[in-house]
Amino acid sequence: MKGVILAGGNGTRLRPLTDITNKCALPVYDRPMIHYSMEAMAASGVNDVLVITGGSAAGQMIHLLGNGSQFGLRRVYFAVQEKAGGIAHGLQLAEEFAADEPVFLALGDNLFFGNGMAASVSQFSQDPRGARIFLSAVPDPQRFGVAVVRGERVVSLEEKPGNPKSNLAVTGFYLYDSSVFDRIRTLEPSARGELEVTDLNRTYMVEGRLNYSMLDGDWVDAGTFESLHAASAMARRFATRSVSARKAA
Ligand code: DAU
Repeated sequence: MKGVILAGGNGTRLRPLTDITNKCALPVYDRPMIHYSMEAMAASGVNDVLVITGGSAAGQMIHLLGNGSQFGLRRVYFAVQEKAGGIAHGLQLAEEFAADEPVFLALGDNLFFGNGMAASVSQFSQDPRGARIFLSAVPDPQRFGVAVVRGERVVSLEEKPGNPKSNLAVTGFYLYDSSVFDRIRTLEPSARGELEVTDLNRTYMVEGRLNYSMLDGDWVDAGTFESLHAASAMARRFATRSVSARKAA
């Protein structure tokens, strides 16, 4: 299983914070945002991670992450997405790196504090067929990709719908089998000119090959001022809880 973190994009919703700083380098409580993704990769048993970055502040990522050993990773690789052509467009840069292995994709602005993700990743890596997404029930689904599920399958997917059919947000963590890169080649740019991850996931859904796990814990997409603030509060709560649990043990 190979890990891919998407840390490109322009971070327009966070200007002026992102004028000279990559969104994923912004502080979330006591560390840069991307550290949380790196830790999620290491905790999920992934050894090799490709960080895809872009924009004027791409070089910051190398300073922040080094060779990955501080996170317990074997190696970190870097790739540059020259224009923000969409999440699926960014993922395409990982084709050679993935080398026919399954891929665990994490969006660099998504933070998760909870349980079960490592088990889903490990299960998928043993039997990598189709794709798996991670869902979370939210009060404001229109901000996200929205899924409808039946049994173990996803049966509807819409990107930021005006009238969501459910309250299940598609979070920024995705597991793909090695057919993902051929599928990206079939995608057309959306109305906003991007290759959309939702369209990519739909290629699996229409074949009945898109499964899901419900996230068990706290999740935040830190892409707006409010949610960036919420992410810091969440990280702080989690850090404080971990310290008290260690003291109690
Ligand atoms: O957070 C989960 C949501 O992420 C999903 O529910 C949506 O279905 C999915 O489209 C995505 O929506 P966002 O509007 O939040 O995506 P955003 O453009 O903020 O990009 C997410 C991350 O991916 C961010 O860290 C920047 C990176 N990115 C984005 C684009 C468009 C790239 O590296 N390259 C890109 O071209």
